[in-house]
Amino acid sequence: MNVLLLGSGGRESALAWKISQSPALNHLYIAPGNGGTGLYGTNVALSPLDFPAIEKFVKENAIDLIVAGNEDPLVAGIYDYFEPLGIPVAGPSKAGAALEGSKDFAKKFMVENNIPTARYRSFTADSIAEADEFLESLRPPYVLKADGLAAGKGVLIIDDLNEAKASLREMLGGMFGKSSATVVIEEFLKGIECSVFVLTDGTGEYRILPVAKDYKRIGEGDTGLNTGGMGAVSPVPFADDTFMRKVEERIIRPTINGLKERGITYRGFIFLGLINVEGEPMVIEYNVRMGDPETEVVMLRIKSDLLPLLMKTAQGNLGDSPLEISPDTAVTVMAVSQGYPGSYPKGKVITGVDEITESTLFHAGTKLTDEGTLVTSGGRVIAISSIANDIPSALAKSYRSMDKLTFEGKNFRSDIGKDLL
Ligand code: AMP
Ligand code: GLY
Repeated sequence: MNVLLLGSGGRESALAWKISQSPALNHLYIAPGNGGTGLYGTNVALSPLDFPAIEKFVKENAIDLIVAGNEDPLVAGIYDYFEPLGIPVAGPSKAGAALEGSKDFAKKFMVENNIPTARYRSFTADSIAEADEFLESLRPPYVLKADGLAAGKGVLIIDDLNEAKASLREMLGGMFGKSSATVVIEEFLKGIECSVFVLTDGTGEYRILPVAKDYKRIGEGDTGLNTGGMGAVSPVPFADDTFMRKVEERIIRPTINGLKERGITYRGFIFLGLINVEGEPMVIEYNVRMGDPETEVVMLRIKSDLLPLLMKTAQGNLGDSPLEISPDTAVTVMAVSQGYPGSYPKGKVITGVDEITESTLFHAGTKLTDEGTLVTSGGRVIAISSIANDIPSALAKSYRSMDKLTFEGKNFRSDIGKDLL
């Protein structure tokens, strides 16, 4: 099989690493890829959103399967573009991608399918008075969400009522462009979050992938600004059999059945952002792709060959294909640029990569210069992933590897996974 994987982050590095191990693979292309993905296949300078250019490439290179790493091409309808051309895409149709592309749609979908989630209402510039009333009926903190995609920045959590009302007006006034023309206001839920991933083929068949927890804040002890993710751990001790049975019965099956009943084609990953509220799972959000940095731990724990599973998912015939998962613990610790998630320098020379043997390095913001030097090119630079018998042993490997990796201004969290011990 020839595969085209779209994206350039740590998630795509981990997917590429896993796909490249498949005996069923002929050639893997990554578009656009990064400074590390060349180890697993060929980087190609294509934009994941330029469907006509992708079509040309697919035809010229006999691509059998397209895998979309991030949400943008999915929400823009890449599945629907290639379906009539007979090219399988592992990912949902545009209608299915609305689970991530529109929070208003996702909330309606959950309510209609009795899926546990925070109480909410949606508002536009025409319903500000009702929005104020709804805010007054809630207890603080107030959760305000831009309806559309906002590069992970569209959620505000505000303690003060007047400030929440002011932010609501800013959002409706274009704080996140068109994405916040509709704002979802919802009840605040208190609990610990985890990420559950499901692979489904649109027929009702599904497989549950390893559960992971990510660490979103920049600072130790979950303080400071939100980032794309500073580390991850899998499995998650509190997501035990009892919890996961509830997740499957109350969330996964109703989600898959709800999509089917509405005639929405969904052949790809579903990412359930869950919160454990006193032992009861509730949905914070849906994403229509894998998580980053969760993929960097999930892939280490999947023992089965992923490529045939992705192909079967895209073709709607997952059947009883087995998914074997390692009982070991995987962790990833992200090395980030100085200043991230604010502004940061690029082009810092990275050394030490070749001395690291006990961890797998998933490159994110890296690139190779024309001279072949590995340099930083993003905020999140490299995810250092390790697998071992337990969390402390896996962490010890990743932090030893972190010591060997050097670039000017390197920053990382030294407390990944400590809250789970
Ligand atoms: P994002 O990943 O940008 O959508 O950020 C959403 C984050 O905001 C989640 O990971 C939660 O930490 C938090 N969040 C969203 N909705 C709620 C809610 N209803 N109650 C509590 N926290 C929430
Ligand atoms: N780690 C959260 C995300 O990928 O959205």
